[in-house]
Amino acid sequence: MNQPTLVIIKPDGLQKSLTGGILTKLSETKLVIIGCKIKEVSRALAEEHYRDMKEKPFFEEIVSYLMGEYHTKRVMALLYHGEDAILKIRKICGATNPEEADPSTIRGSYGRITTKGVYENVIHASGNPADAEREIKLWFEPEEIVFSNLYPTKETTLQNVKKKIWS
Ligand code: PPS
Repeated sequence: MNQPTLVIIKPDGLQKSLTGGILTKLSETKLVIIGCKIKEVSRALAEEHYRDMKEKPFFEEIVSYLMGEYHTKRVMALLYHGEDAILKIRKICGATNPEEADPSTIRGSYGRITTKGVYENVIHASGNPADAEREIKLWFEPEEIVFSNLYPTKETTLQNVKKKIWS
């Protein structure tokens, strides 16, 4: 089944100039990139992204990590699309825990665990179609995506300019 998935190269990936290597590994999937941007992550965006982790003891740490408090204040957000995209991307990313990730994967190659026990695993990838939809709508506006009809949209007018938003 053709599906979209969200990938975020986290601030350590950008600061350590790992984006080229990561994109090369992701290209092994032969999936299509339908959205891509460099973004500064606000606290509100980071907290919403990790909202299901709110009760975890490492919540504050992963929010700070995604905001770039420990590295550089930017991430690369990518939208991949194609057959079994979620599974294919997660396979190349490797296990969430970088110490458990196969060394041939992105997290196995580039990730580490901090002295506080928090994973700096360089990349986030959506875990299932429902998460992918929530995350894509959070990170991308319809007009930033090649297939802007991925999910239903509606038209709104902002300061006399017509604009598509997720409905
Ligand atoms: S769970 O509950 O651990 O199964 O949740 P999961 O869906 O795997 O996502 C957990 C996200 O939190 C980041 N993180 C950690 N998880 C578990 N243990 C520790 N110590 C930890 N430190 C950070 C983990 O990297 C997941 O975020 P993403 O962005 O998906 O990598």
